[in-house]
Amino acid sequence: MYRDLDDYDAVARGERGGHYYGRNSNSNRDMLERAVAELEGAEAGVATGSGMSALHTAILALAPRPTTIVATRELYGGTAALLRQDLEPAGYKVHFLDFGDLDAVRRSMDGAGLVLAETITNPLCHVPDLQAIGAMARQQQIPFLVDNTFASPILCRPLELGATVVMHSATKYLGGHSDLVAGVIVGSAAVMQAARLRSVRTGTPLGPFEAWLALRGLRTLELRMRRHSDSSLALARAMRTMPGVERVHHPLLEGSPSGEVARRLLPQGAGGMMAFDLEGGRAAVQRMMDRFQLVTFAASLGGVETTISYPEITSHRSMTPQEREELGVGPGTVRVSVGIEDADDVIADFAQALG
Ligand SMILES: Cc1ncc(COP(=O)(O)O)c(C=O)c1O
Repeated sequence: MYRDLDDYDAVARGERGGHYYGRNSNSNRDMLERAVAELEGAEAGVATGSGMSALHTAILALAPRPTTIVATRELYGGTAALLRQDLEPAGYKVHFLDFGDLDAVRRSMDGAGLVLAETITNPLCHVPDLQAIGAMARQQQIPFLVDNTFASPILCRPLELGATVVMHSATKYLGGHSDLVAGVIVGSAAVMQAARLRSVRTGTPLGPFEAWLALRGLRTLELRMRRHSDSSLALARAMRTMPGVERVHHPLLEGSPSGEVARRLLPQGAGGMMAFDLEGGRAAVQRMMDRFQLVTFAASLGGVETTISYPEITSHRSMTPQEREELGVGPGTVRVSVGIEDADDVIADFAQALG
């Protein structure tokens, strides 16, 4: 309610608290933005209608004009598609690199305008050294954007490691119940103000109901992440001796290629994501799926139920077999999003399905 025209004008100018149009702001979205900003240790946040719109908004806030983007080659497929199909035709250049090779990252930063990483990669769960990459980016004054979807702010706070902006697909762990699509970015008040105005102009803000669902999810985030982390590590360990399992990928599993970095950056656990390679390729994956009694198939991740996905036809379907092979994703690679059921039940279901 507005007392008079001056009162409305004061709200529209931001001089008085309140809301005047749903695309510009609403109470639930404000609360969600503040909550995620607080969890990540940021000054401010902006919530948008999906993880992808959050990422797009963040990229344009940090690099509004065509420039060179240095990105991990293990990016989520939708992010790689945004870079290749929308930003490259608009004049951006993207260098996709192995972020495990810090010398290559340092070399490619010369003259770049943005560095883009993910805390834990999909599906093989590598953990790049965000601290080292953040320090290099800072030294060269290049903004550093981190997709923290897989870790959540409970397990990792990339702003403390040198990130400029952190992004989440809130569709995953923040929401936690596989019942909404949303995205959030957080960072300094100045960058978030630019991002917010662009999001309002391009019509991407999050609606109030989804914001409410995400806020409800946040209430149990800490409990869920602890359980996801414990159960995924227990399943990863148990899987090493299951029949047909050639390799298990989990950041904190003994012998993991990112073990040292993961133990340093994710001391409280690595969340619910893991993967494994099954002997026998697609037919063996199908046989396992046919035998599951608890676990189900889903393209998404981060919910309370344990699900598997098959990167060859889900997250990595737009790649050629050769591109997938270069990343280490083969016809037997299965990604698992470990839920919050009793870990013994989940382990037993995989054991009987692979037995
Ligand atoms: C790591 C990561 N980033 C971003 C996205 C995109 O999020 P959304 O589907 O909410 O747009 C996803 C979706 O799977 C993802 O896994």
